[in-house]
Amino acid sequence: MLDALWERRALLVSGKGGVGKTTVTAALARAAVASGRRVLLAEVEAASENQDAPSPLGSLVGARASGSQVTEVSPGLSFIRLSAVEGQRLFLQDVLPLRLMADAAMRTRALRRFLEAAPALREMGVLYQMLHLLRRTRPDGSPLHPLCILDLPATGHALAIAALPDALLSVIPGGPIGRSVREGLALLRDPRLTGALLVTLPEPLPVSETLELATAIQRHRIPIAAGVLNRMPDNPFSPDGRAAVARLLDEHGPHLGQRALGRLDRARAAEARLAGNLPAPLVTLPELPASGSELVERLAAHLTRPATVPPAAPSHGRAGARS
Ligand SMILES: Nc1ncnc2c1ncn2[C@@H]1O[C@H](COP(=O)(O)OP(=O)(O)O)[C@@H](O)[C@H]1O
Ligand SMILES: [Mg+2]
Repeated sequence: MLDALWERRALLVSGKGGVGKTTVTAALARAAVASGRRVLLAEVEAASENQDAPSPLGSLVGARASGSQVTEVSPGLSFIRLSAVEGQRLFLQDVLPLRLMADAAMRTRALRRFLEAAPALREMGVLYQMLHLLRRTRPDGSPLHPLCILDLPATGHALAIAALPDALLSVIPGGPIGRSVREGLALLRDPRLTGALLVTLPEPLPVSETLELATAIQRHRIPIAAGVLNRMPDNPFSPDGRAAVARLLDEHGPHLGQRALGRLDRARAAEARLAGNLPAPLVTLPELPASGSELVERLAAHLTRPATVPPAAPSHGRAGARS
């Protein structure tokens, strides 16, 4: 299943803040590189952000420069911070006859204020810069960035990007702008080329929200590549062992262990509900006692390990990346 993910040109990672989206994005990129892909890892610069502020995603993979240029982090892995303004400049450059005019236009205060005011135009800028990067080729004609993995800022943003094509096409029907928007659309809506990855947590509310997001994204015809259920608690029990522990806890009244068992039950129910209702395969990642780049490495190793558990290992019933 993961190999099918890596065949795409763009993976858009979405999810609510705090679910581990940035960590998962970094782990996916590391896993793709480990299976021999060349990856451009991208992050969207926040509207108000200053260019020199450290990038959360960049620091997880050890990217030093934080500017809006592609920088190589390690063999096969590059990083860029996408900026709406840079994308808007590229867009104007493509539609205005001269580069000088695009630069001059971007310096116009009124235009800048207009571009910053309309959220759709920010999204358009981000998307346009990504398309620009995806279109770049090497001297032999092969893509310079075969796979771009993009950490989107928040749930709303994926929807905003999904809604963008229709919004843009309704105002820009033809000409060179329409043509390049259509090219972007074709890429965004082609399940062989693009896929959204929806990251969530194994709790009832996040799962409900993710299923709603999936429905909304599909309405805009953006393909969903996979769900990622992050921070799945370890399940040390066999079904019999679980029943025995429950009996024991019942007999001895309220106990701290009951909370942990409850969390485990909720997590498994959430996983089953997501797997049953998401119109895409589900990847489950474990809760691990680590953070930062160590956590990223361990999650990447989890993603790249063989799908079958060696028979000697005790059955943990922990679902992994299914292929
Ligand atoms: N699988 C995991 N196991 C343990 N901690 C995790 C896991 N995934 C994420 N975290 C932790 O959760 C917090 C939020 O992660 P982050 O990637 O910044 O989320 P987001 O980008 O969705 O806001 C971080 O402290 C991170 O270390
Ligand atoms: Mg984040």
